[in-house]
Amino acid sequence: MSELIHIIDNFYHTHRISDDDMVKIIDCDNHAVTDYLMEKAVQARKAVYGNEVYIRGLIEISNICKNDCYYCGIRKSNMNVKRYRLSKEDILHCADNGYKLGFRTFVLQGGEDIFFSDDFLCGIIGELKENYPDCAVTLSLGERTRESYERLYAAGADRYLLRHETATKEHYEKLHPANMSFDNRMKCLENLKDIGYQTGCGMMIGSPEQTVYDIVRDIRFIEEFKPHMVGMGPFIPHKDTCFADKEAGSVLLTLKVMAIVRIMMPNVLLPSTTALATMCNDGHRAGIMAGCNVIMPNLSPEHAKENYTLYDNKANSGTEDALKIQALAERMNELGYTVVIKRGDYKGYDKGDVI
Ligand code: 5AD
Repeated sequence: MSELIHIIDNFYHTHRISDDDMVKIIDCDNHAVTDYLMEKAVQARKAVYGNEVYIRGLIEISNICKNDCYYCGIRKSNMNVKRYRLSKEDILHCADNGYKLGFRTFVLQGGEDIFFSDDFLCGIIGELKENYPDCAVTLSLGERTRESYERLYAAGADRYLLRHETATKEHYEKLHPANMSFDNRMKCLENLKDIGYQTGCGMMIGSPEQTVYDIVRDIRFIEEFKPHMVGMGPFIPHKDTCFADKEAGSVLLTLKVMAIVRIMMPNVLLPSTTALATMCNDGHRAGIMAGCNVIMPNLSPEHAKENYTLYDNKANSGTEDALKIQALAERMNELGYTVVIKRGDYKGYDKGDVI
């Protein structure tokens, strides 16, 4: 055990760790060690973001998707989903509610719905930025062309979330049908960063056939890519998918990987995700105690929330609901954190900082 404490200390001071040591930490379930890892992650986050917790208002704009990812409940071949698409008015109305509740970032997330042309999206982004010049707009709309990403950025979008899902090509091919391309996904991420978006990647923890080495490769990819945000949550089976009978990812493993990413990259924006909250009571709290600094409550209309079912039993009645923002703020206060009314941008390094 003292060897692992030493490894964690060294990692905390240098932000570097060998593959072997990473595997040792990922494989270790000793409470004293995992508690120490979380403590160090919290310390690393506090050094950059203090006690502030950033909130994002999530608007699930469509559950229509042209893709057929094996894990995802809104995959196109699932005939049991009631499909919906929000109108421009619906989306602006959600944002209006969100602004009044204190949100200063709106995340437009949806399936790859071909209805969402650049013109349509640029119109919404432009209006959001005009109505709320103090707010950030984040998009999470999957793979698009470089030209499309450029147009959306020019219209005012600030950030883009596109999980890489797994950094191991062979593993990617086990999670997606043959018409989806690992290389294209990686290219999209490069384009997004290159264009100037604050860019987020990420992966599911415990997805079918994922090994500890795949997780190490994911963390190495994150280290090299240097995203501004990393979205991670446990894999949770959905009854109408190919993976209905697969086991869900472990909460502890998810928390350990979150803590490792935080210690490696103290500046990264790290959400405590809904998937994590779905898998354990008070999941948001657990994520914050593992080094996360962002929470993304749901601003979608009720009918959308019910049908945006990426996995079974998705949490939506607790502090995942944007209307419960007061309860979330109180819970964070109890933990010694403050939910702030700010855009909550990535804090970059100042020249000369030792990182
Ligand atoms: N379990 C957990 N996360 C999932 N996602 C999609 N399906 C599932 C699932 N069954 C995640 C993917 C996607 C994000 C929007 O949700 O990582 O990028």
